Amino acid sequence: MEQGRDQWATKIGLILAMAGNAVGLGNFVRFPTQVAQNGGGAFMVPYFIALFFLGIPVMWIEWVAGRYGGKYGHGTLGPTYYLMARESLKPRSALWWGVISGMLAFSLTILLNSYYLHLIGWSAAYSWFSITGAYFGKNTGEFFGNYLANHTQVMLFWGITVILLAIAVGQGVSKGIERWVKVMMPLLYVFAIIMVGYVFVLGSPVDPNWSTIDGFKFIWSPNWTYLKEHFAAVMLAATGQIFFTLSLGMGIIQNYASYLGPKDDVALSGIATVSLNEFAEVVLGGSIAIPLATAYFTKIVSPDLVAKAFKDAPSFLIQMGVPQDIAKSGNVDTISSYLSQHWGEIMQYLTQHKDIGLKAIGNTFGLGFSYTSLPNAFVSMGDAGRLFGALWFLLLWFAGFTSAIAMYNYVVALLEEDLGIKRNVGTWVVLVIYFLAGLPVIYISGYMDQVDAWVSFQLTLLALFDIIVAVYLFKPDNFWKELHEGAWMKVPEWYRPIILYIAPLLLMIPLLGMVKSLIGTTLEWPARIAIIVMWVIGFIESYYSIKKKYGEELEKNEVI
Ligand code: PHE
Ligand code: NA
Repeated sequence: MEQGRDQWATKIGLILAMAGNAVGLGNFVRFPTQVAQNGGGAFMVPYFIALFFLGIPVMWIEWVAGRYGGKYGHGTLGPTYYLMARESLKPRSALWWGVISGMLAFSLTILLNSYYLHLIGWSAAYSWFSITGAYFGKNTGEFFGNYLANHTQVMLFWGITVILLAIAVGQGVSKGIERWVKVMMPLLYVFAIIMVGYVFVLGSPVDPNWSTIDGFKFIWSPNWTYLKEHFAAVMLAATGQIFFTLSLGMGIIQNYASYLGPKDDVALSGIATVSLNEFAEVVLGGSIAIPLATAYFTKIVSPDLVAKAFKDAPSFLIQMGVPQDIAKSGNVDTISSYLSQHWGEIMQYLTQHKDIGLKAIGNTFGLGFSYTSLPNAFVSMGDAGRLFGALWFLLLWFAGFTSAIAMYNYVVALLEEDLGIKRNVGTWVVLVIYFLAGLPVIYISGYMDQVDAWVSFQLTLLALFDIIVAVYLFKPDNFWKELHEGAWMKVPEWYRPIILYIAPLLLMIPLLGMVKSLIGTTLEWPARIAIIVMWVIGFIESYYSIKKKYGEELEKNEVI
């Protein structure tokens, strides 16, 4: 054991920290958006398959890898994966597995944070705008646009968020992070439960044709026809969501697990993390945004929204009765003006095909769901909507914040352990890095979406490294033994082939699918440069950190 390395002080603190890590904007914003875009009940079938066969295995793998690295004083992937690969490779070959894994993890953290922190900042701002009623009586789409255009304001709420993060992380793992999450996570669950309670008594507040029950039906009745027709896309979306929501393929589960003692349980704790996240996603996250959007559908939908949602998916417009040439024009104004002339019939169609209506809301730029669609629902609630809106955005802020702490700590640990920079200095270095990395998000339009598409791909790629290095190169028998070291539960023997064979096979679906969709997305120069720069820095950093610590055995290059 490394001298003086911080450890979690309490079991409950560890579990809440891990839950905080996993529960994020993904649960309350990304999940409902994905459900709405992918046919509701059609999405849930592959979602649970991916959870069981891919999410749980990779969660365990990352806990095992993290605790293993922690034994040698490492909370970053470079040195940890070097040590694991060394179990079956000569040091000089193992080095490359460590270097590449470390590079992927570092660049992911910085790239994801360049926009994730802005989203959290927006939530802080919108909590304020809800309380003060700033967007009430206005066009919420325009309001959002104006907010984004006001860079001072955007930076103010970003700044408040990041400074608080720096303070929390600066206090250390047991004295900082653990204490903060012990307050924030229970509050987060309480906020969410209050909202779900309200949704349950809401019924149909504006139009008898649209009730919260319709929203629940949309999610919970399996839609086999939709699934069959859009199988590849739905499968891809579901596996992608499982990775994102469980914080897998980033290195941050490993980082948190590295602060365990060598005999602390990982098997049951890994399952506890998954359960807390899934409760917050499927039960809570699934019972707020979609039922609300359904109950207030008529206040949210507009010809313009439908046109934007389906401008690249003419088949949906044609089903609604839009003439072929207009549907295929790809022109929002043309489509929108047709829709407004026939709005009565269109609304009738959407009332009978609620899944298409909800897809329209989900399709309009993922974030639109919470920042422009739901605010319309809050406005319709009158004064209660101010409180309810504030609660919603505060919930998002807490959820995002506790995930961002984990990523922040990853970079601080990297500076501390690999480069010898003290924690209280490192936290402010990270703040400067984040500031610089976040600038293009404000100034370059399209940058965020491109980086996001890339990040989803790289997450999946790193998960493949998890399986190759922490299971196969580490040797499956060692892995199984480590998983049960100090474990509070026995993983049934029949689950072993799922981890060994089914998980990597299932992983190939999103990986190949994403390569295909990335080829279709154009990464413009700013995004390309950011990715390359982060790769180069990550490469040098993780190469240097492994060399520094294990230079001698690398010289000899003998099997250990
Ligand atoms: N799991 C987080 C969420 O659901 C997102 C996240 C992904 C955070 C990867 C950190 C790393 O929002
Ligand atoms: Na999550």
